[in-house]
Amino acid sequence: MSRYAYVNGVYVSPDEPAIAVEDRGFQFADSVYEVIALINGQLCDKRGHLDRLERSLRELRISAPVSREELGEIINAVIDKNQLCDGAIYIQISRGVGKRDFLFPDPDVTKPTLVVYGWPFDFTLTGEQVKGTRIVTGPDLRWARRDIKTTALLAQSMAKQQAVEAGADDCWMVDGEGFVTEATSSNAWIVIGRKLITRKADHSVLKGVTRNAFKELLEKQNYEFEERSFTPEELYVADEAFATSATQLLKPVIEADGHTIKDGAVGPICKKLIGAYAEYAGKGSDFQLSWSYDD
Ligand code: PDD
Repeated sequence: MSRYAYVNGVYVSPDEPAIAVEDRGFQFADSVYEVIALINGQLCDKRGHLDRLERSLRELRISAPVSREELGEIINAVIDKNQLCDGAIYIQISRGVGKRDFLFPDPDVTKPTLVVYGWPFDFTLTGEQVKGTRIVTGPDLRWARRDIKTTALLAQSMAKQQAVEAGADDCWMVDGEGFVTEATSSNAWIVIGRKLITRKADHSVLKGVTRNAFKELLEKQNYEFEERSFTPEELYVADEAFATSATQLLKPVIEADGHTIKDGAVGPICKKLIGAYAEYAGKGSDFQLSWSYDD
């Protein structure tokens, strides 16, 4: 089946050349992106992802190429053209094309580049189906503004590659003080008793839209939410551990650096929360949470 990617108003095949050599996204990773889950034809947490996209643009002083409503229409057109029902929708906006220079180009002359496309994706929506994953920890080699969702992803890509080469599924990255920041493309959590702990969402991590939804869901179930840093040693002896993101939803971790977490099986809180997220996502856009960096 043909695949269609929207690039600045035209549809191309995603493997066809469509981005200029001097696009700042290509040369400087001067671009931001979002990934939104499409589950059973419904965009999950679309509102939160578009809230965060707009903040990323503001932080980098890139102007929005289209309004939120127009972007919504483009996303729907991409879903229709690609006949997607369960998939990942990818949106990327770069500062645009300009003569290679470290200085930002004149925004009156340079228009941002907008790309929207998607691909099929299988989501795990029940606690019974979900499988435990194995992680290793490693140094976080990224820049200091990880709260902005830019396409500068090489450090995460290297960490993931090294984890898989070491026989694990992913890497949980660790800062210079010895605390876990996050996984390569998801937020990291540990469970101690009824307390669910994840790092404070400052500039050191990306504040996940899925993290936001899980925070709300766990509080509704009378679990306690704690925002603080934790070490790999705390992870090794936690009751449960998991990662959250738009595509992973909730991925339980059953082994870290060779240490079995609890009894090595997916824990009850992970199982329960996956079901709660599936129910939340299935309710549709009227029930979607907003996302703010300052909450
Ligand atoms: N990644 N932290 C990092 C570094 C991420 O790249 C992501 C998402 C998250 C979770 O954010 P959210 O819950 O809003 O998806 C946390 C996406 C899925 C990706 O790059 O494919």
